[in-house]
Amino acid sequence: MKGKITKVTGSLVVAENMQDAKMFDMVKVSSKGLVGEILELRDSNASIQVYESTNGLCVGDDVENTGHPLSMELGPGLLGNVFDGIGRSLLSLYEDFGNRILAGAGTSSLNHQKKWQFVATKNVGDEVSFGDEIGYVQETEIIKTKILVPFGVSGKILSIKSGEFLVDDIVAKIKTLDGTKTVSMCQKWPIRKPRPVKQKLPVNSSLLTGQRIIDTLFPIAKGGVAAVPGPFGSGKTVVQHQLAKWSDADVVVYVGCGERGNEMTDVLKEFPTLVDPKTQKSLMQKTILIANTSDMPVAAREASIYTGITIAEFFRDMGYSVVIMADSTSRWAEALREMSGRLEEMPGEEGYPAYLSNRLASFYERAGNALLFGKDKKIGSITAIGAVSPQGGDLSEPVTQATLKIVKVFWGLSSKLAYKRHFPAIDWMISYSSYSNVLDKWFNENIVFNFSEMKNFVTKTLQQEAEILDIVSLVGFDVLSTFDKIVLDVAEIIRDDFLHQNAFDEVDTFSSIQKQAKMLKNVFDYASFAQKAVDNGFSYEEIVSVPSKKSLAKMKFVSEKELEKLDKIAEDLRTDFVLMLQKEVIA
Ligand SMILES: Nc1ncnc2c1ncn2[C@@H]1O[C@H](COP(=O)(O)OP(=O)(O)OP(=O)(O)O)[C@@H](O)[C@H]1O
Ligand SMILES: [Mg+2]
Repeated sequence: MKGKITKVTGSLVVAENMQDAKMFDMVKVSSKGLVGEILELRDSNASIQVYESTNGLCVGDDVENTGHPLSMELGPGLLGNVFDGIGRSLLSLYEDFGNRILAGAGTSSLNHQKKWQFVATKNVGDEVSFGDEIGYVQETEIIKTKILVPFGVSGKILSIKSGEFLVDDIVAKIKTLDGTKTVSMCQKWPIRKPRPVKQKLPVNSSLLTGQRIIDTLFPIAKGGVAAVPGPFGSGKTVVQHQLAKWSDADVVVYVGCGERGNEMTDVLKEFPTLVDPKTQKSLMQKTILIANTSDMPVAAREASIYTGITIAEFFRDMGYSVVIMADSTSRWAEALREMSGRLEEMPGEEGYPAYLSNRLASFYERAGNALLFGKDKKIGSITAIGAVSPQGGDLSEPVTQATLKIVKVFWGLSSKLAYKRHFPAIDWMISYSSYSNVLDKWFNENIVFNFSEMKNFVTKTLQQEAEILDIVSLVGFDVLSTFDKIVLDVAEIIRDDFLHQNAFDEVDTFSSIQKQAKMLKNVFDYASFAQKAVDNGFSYEEIVSVPSKKSLAKMKFVSEKELEKLDKIAEDLRTDFVLMLQKEVIA
């Protein structure tokens, strides 16, 4: 029996005759087949969130329940693709409909007509259990989309062969205890349900981002969760783009939710032209974009972050490290508020529904480092990073507060730094990373033995600078001790020549961790030599005019291919100071 529309309010539709429906079932509305989801059930009446334009809907139109929750098709064809908030491929919709996507255009994520080369990695007779890889498709030059035994299926392979297949073709048959199960390359997964893992593991390694202030001062772990809150125009989107471009994750999922269309256009135009530093191949070979810009249906924005994290989980399950960005979770929360308002729910703080925190958590909690199902010990991770845009930069507002309770890394952007054009405007006085303890050890063991010592020196110098500047504002610079003057000098080098990083400079946009370590060493060495010179009675002017000091300002523009130039700066600093200190001894 079909339901009938009794009321339409914006994107919310009420239908009667829906007694067989369940919460979160997906429905098709009217003869156009608009996609909707059931958000509330009262007796036989269902309140339905429609994810497409409801223009032209009438009371009395049919509503058909699919009996399934809103789901995403997962399989080969996701990489390099662009999806809308409910996981429809915008690239194939564009091919079919051009610029004007017709309402009711279906829910396909994958191309069902395209053939893929499936390479079997198991043989007939092999015993397999769910999560095991049975084959793969070399989908791009750098990523194999692995075909895994579906959840709940274990047994002996009856048939399997390599060859060209459509995503819906059967590539293997498995004899299980209760019959024969077929395996294709496409599976549907309800976007609001986390894909299970065998065990969540503690994080243990750093996601390197090529952004110096992040990697050095406020690092994020593979499998970690972070937020980038900042006022209007402070650089949230640029930070997210930088992480999508340069982080050393295997797969990147970028969700543009509720941001301006032109920002997404920038991504669509720029990403295909960029080369991934790890693989030297086009960035799009490992990237999936979800575009739900401010001019697209607001309801689909709410779904978009779950669509994104479902895709992230799909690749995590293959043993990849995945990073997902959501820009911005504030626009996402506004969509949630709008929908809650239409449902006439009791509003909580600032009109957001009381379940705001739960919903945010149900996104971030799907991140993590995990031991996966399957016989071979596979580990995969999802790192989740959300931008937050609090009105007027007020961090006490509900979305920021709810986010801060969940995330472990906080890169707080400040309008003061952005105004001074110090980018990234991550304010070192308010930002933190709770992964520092674990990752300090990782950096010392994997990058350089005294990495954490140098990092602590940077943090301490910046704190000292803030204290000394307070004094300067009262009594002026000249009365400071030489020691304090040198602290200010070193802090300036740290800020301008190390932390400041121009996202739009060809070389500066990315710093490998090796480059960062060498830059840090040079600043650290300069500070140590300068300190020695102060102890030996040299004046501030003498110290800051050592010739090699000028080279510190050029460090960030040393290309990755010429890192030995940074070692040369270290040698020059040593030579200059040794000469200077010898003078003292001779005198
Ligand atoms: N790392 C950077 N290097 C150079 N310029 C930067 C950097 N980060 C931000 N900017 C400058 O700041 C501008 C605003 O940045 P962005 O669009 O990321 O801000 P936003 O916080 O996302 O703004 P909105 O609140 O409008 O979403 C950029 O267009 C750019 O000029
Ligand atoms: Mg932005």
